[in-house]
Amino acid sequence: MAATAPALASCSGVQSTLDPGGAEATQIATLFWVMTAGGFLIWAFVVALSLYASQWKRKSISERGAGRIIFWGGVVFPVTVLTALLAYALWLMPWLRPFGAEEGTGVRVEVVGSQFWWHVVYRRPDGTSVVSANEIRLPVGERVEFSLESADMIHSFWIPSLGGKMDMIPGRTNRLSLLATRPGTYRGQCAEFCGISHAYMAFPAIAMEPADFEAWLEQRSRPSAGVWAPSAGHDLFMREGCGTCHSVDGTEAGGTQPAGIALGRTPAAGIAGPDLSHVGSRLTIGAGLLANDEEALARFIAHSASIKPGSQMPAYPGLSPDELRAIAAWLKGLQ
Ligand code: CUA
Repeated sequence: MAATAPALASCSGVQSTLDPGGAEATQIATLFWVMTAGGFLIWAFVVALSLYASQWKRKSISERGAGRIIFWGGVVFPVTVLTALLAYALWLMPWLRPFGAEEGTGVRVEVVGSQFWWHVVYRRPDGTSVVSANEIRLPVGERVEFSLESADMIHSFWIPSLGGKMDMIPGRTNRLSLLATRPGTYRGQCAEFCGISHAYMAFPAIAMEPADFEAWLEQRSRPSAGVWAPSAGHDLFMREGCGTCHSVDGTEAGGTQPAGIALGRTPAAGIAGPDLSHVGSRLTIGAGLLANDEEALARFIAHSASIKPGSQMPAYPGLSPDELRAIAAWLKGLQ
């Protein structure tokens, strides 16, 4: 009992298959508990039988009797139990298969795994889409279909509290559907070794009430007001060429840029790195790595290579602390 206590402590939390917040995860957790209980019962039965034979009933049996025990206990019993378990697991499987979007809101989410972050696009039924990164939001009680792709290595998309994992394979589109049943903030994690920062390839997954989700999506479909706030950070972001890899909605509208920014400069429309249109409102930066505040943003810009080894983002150690703070403040303002 004492030995299992630390293990039981991990039965709850934001990233536990045993603390399900979704329909698929509930099925998986149930299968786990059925198998665990079954395994325990069989183990207890075999131990009891051994004790009985060795301690209380010490008499030899005939060869025929021994053969019967082996036949019933060693062949019939395991075949029956394993067949029953297989049938039960197969019966569960249709629920784990992808469903058509017609059963949900019709919102489809495309996720592309890259070393070591997640590109996320919400496709809405009206044909518009909302681009985000490193965070997934989904409505509670409505089935959401994911299409999963990879830009480089094999990654694996996994939100343990909501459902099973699905690989992201270059050149393929895999489908997965999830139905969140409990509002909450969960944690997703890349589940296939994809390079040196594989363990740092995570994301918060937030299950919201459907009305809140719609409102959130609506707000995200427009540029953040913070884009146009007069800011030294905006100018530095543009000057340093951050927009070559990162997109920020609103920067392409050259005419609306505040005075002092050279018009005709390339807008922030890069796709090599995460979309930053509303980065200030995300829970984390660096794909689940650091809590999102100005200090962490500044630190990540200056030392991305040491905070996240192998990341494609070049470090900017040449920026002064004031410059870093200015860029971080502007990014944090992209709510
Ligand atoms: Cu991506 Cu591991």
